[in-house]
Amino acid sequence: MKVTINHNEYEAEPGQTILQVAKQNGIYIPTICHSPHLSDVGSCRMCLVEMENNHKLVASCVTPVTDGMKILTDSKRVIEARKTVVDLLVSDHPLDCMTCEANGNCVLQDLAYEYGIKESTFGTKKLPRFEIKADNEFIQLDPDKCILCGKCVRTCKEIQMCNALDFVNRGFETKVSPPFDEDLGGKDSPCVFCGQCVEICPTGALTYIPSNGKGRYYEFKKTITTCPYCGVGCQLE
Ligand code: FES
Repeated sequence: MKVTINHNEYEAEPGQTILQVAKQNGIYIPTICHSPHLSDVGSCRMCLVEMENNHKLVASCVTPVTDGMKILTDSKRVIEARKTVVDLLVSDHPLDCMTCEANGNCVLQDLAYEYGIKESTFGTKKLPRFEIKADNEFIQLDPDKCILCGKCVRTCKEIQMCNALDFVNRGFETKVSPPFDEDLGGKDSPCVFCGQCVEICPTGALTYIPSNGKGRYYEFKKTITTCPYCGVGCQLE
């Protein structure tokens, strides 16, 4: 089938999403909650694009293409909508980038820079609202820095199959936490400290405790080494 993106025609396969077709043709669409390794939930709305025929905005990561579809990825309406998404996320986020572990490695920071959001026009929520969970040797969870994209929850469920993280509470009180808000390192916790949630977190909500305060992300060099957690001896980065 054929689809038109930004007035150029492209080939697409049935079942592909707008985001997939755009990506395979080198067209940039920003994303937060999407990962090619996980199921898509369309929760962050960062990947909004405009339908040329009726000017509706749709989330490109969860919208399948149809034959003859005409899409705009960088119209004024799209840019304004994405700016509002970033503005809203920043309104409920600590602005302590200079002392955050994820400084220089944060998708929200990158998007705020890209869309020129220095502070939120919606005002800023009083923070901190939640307690930091650092009850184990390996992983720290700071729910105030979480933007609820759910990538850690889906990674833990779909890839690691541990279900050690999930959403708790509702509305503004929603946060990611071990089920029943227990400790991540508690004796009943299914967490195996694989670190995949830290790797996929787009902000500083999940970080490695051993590296906290010891250097910026970009100052560390990753090397392949033997995983110490079980006896198998997997080589990991
Ligand atoms: Fe599409 Fe989040 S990336 S809704």
